[in-house]
Amino acid sequence: MGKAAPAFPFFVSGFDTLMKNELGKRLSAIVTEATTAIAEASATSDLEKIRVDLLGRQGSLTALLKSVGTLPEAKRRSFGLAVNEAKDSVNGQLEQRRVALATSQRAAAVEQEVIDVTLPGRSTGQGSVHPITRSRRRIEEIFTRIGFNVVHGPEIEDDFHNFEALNIPPDHPARAMHDTFYLSPGIVLRTHTSPVQIRYMETQDPPLQVIAPGRVYRCDSDVTHTPMFHQVEGLAVDTDISFADLKGVLTFFIREFFEQDLPVRFRPSYFPFTEPSAEVDIGCVFCKGGGCRVCQQSGWLEILGCGMVHPEVFRHVGIDNDQYTGYAFGLGIERLTMLRYGVDDLRLFFDNEIAFLRQFS
Ligand code: FA5
Ligand code: MG
Repeated sequence: MGKAAPAFPFFVSGFDTLMKNELGKRLSAIVTEATTAIAEASATSDLEKIRVDLLGRQGSLTALLKSVGTLPEAKRRSFGLAVNEAKDSVNGQLEQRRVALATSQRAAAVEQEVIDVTLPGRSTGQGSVHPITRSRRRIEEIFTRIGFNVVHGPEIEDDFHNFEALNIPPDHPARAMHDTFYLSPGIVLRTHTSPVQIRYMETQDPPLQVIAPGRVYRCDSDVTHTPMFHQVEGLAVDTDISFADLKGVLTFFIREFFEQDLPVRFRPSYFPFTEPSAEVDIGCVFCKGGGCRVCQQSGWLEILGCGMVHPEVFRHVGIDNDQYTGYAFGLGIERLTMLRYGVDDLRLFFDNEIAFLRQFS
């Protein structure tokens, strides 16, 4: 061991002697060079190259280690030890530098990864009310404004409420007008909201003024028909109700709903539960009355059926036909919605295409 601090960063016995011979000098030079190179390495890939150059199969330290066998017996041990210590030292330095580089690389990455707090945030998509629901609410709002209450009935109905009490006995031809979905004999998916009239009159005494919105079902599908659609039933019963009241209320409603003066016509029609009966058409908004596929070339679109409550219906619910009169109507929400927004295929309302629905938000 030398007295002064050696250039060698490691200690072996017999160091002085070693320093004096060629191999010792080479070992010392390799380690010094390696120490500088490791300190200067700026990437972990540089370190790997240094390691291979020194300790790889063709590496300079590896070569020195191999040469140990060529030395005289007396020097083998001490030189072998010296090379091994040099190897450990180099490995230690490599590892230290690797850790240091990794740390500073991370620090640099963190430094670069700035969060720009001024960027707009990721918005949560805002939903919107379905156009059919919008229309239903609009219809409810208009009718409640003129004194109607909103009531509801079941979608699964019995034959009595959906047909019989509405003056449609089992063999009545009007049953063919409703393409009915049967759940079991005598139990149906209601084909219209008119059974709510019956349920309401069964439990309430006149005067009555209600609307009943809801889903109805028919085995039917084309541009103006879907197997499930929505109706709003209307019913008013009092001592002095006339067809003029019905006409006045519906005309008011249509003006309010469309916010414009569309052509409206009351066309004589037939329903077993009203007499007289009418259907109301409005001028086709797509062709302006010229005729198109939506109105089936007629220039008109039917939006509702209506009439004066049939005495036979009053009889079924126990309301005195001599004392009271009433009117009823049933309108199609999809029809009204397609006309208001210019949607030319009713089935679009049920496809749930986001792009379509967004237009109504
Ligand atoms: C009825 O359903 C009668 N209950 C209406 C009524 C009530 C008359 C009270 C008298 C008194 P209608 O089948 O015509 O009638 O249907 C009424 C409205 O529902 C139609 O004018 C139309 O706007 C709409 N509608 C009928 N079928 C469909 C369908 N498949 N798809 C969408 N809307 C429809
Ligand atoms: Mg009809």
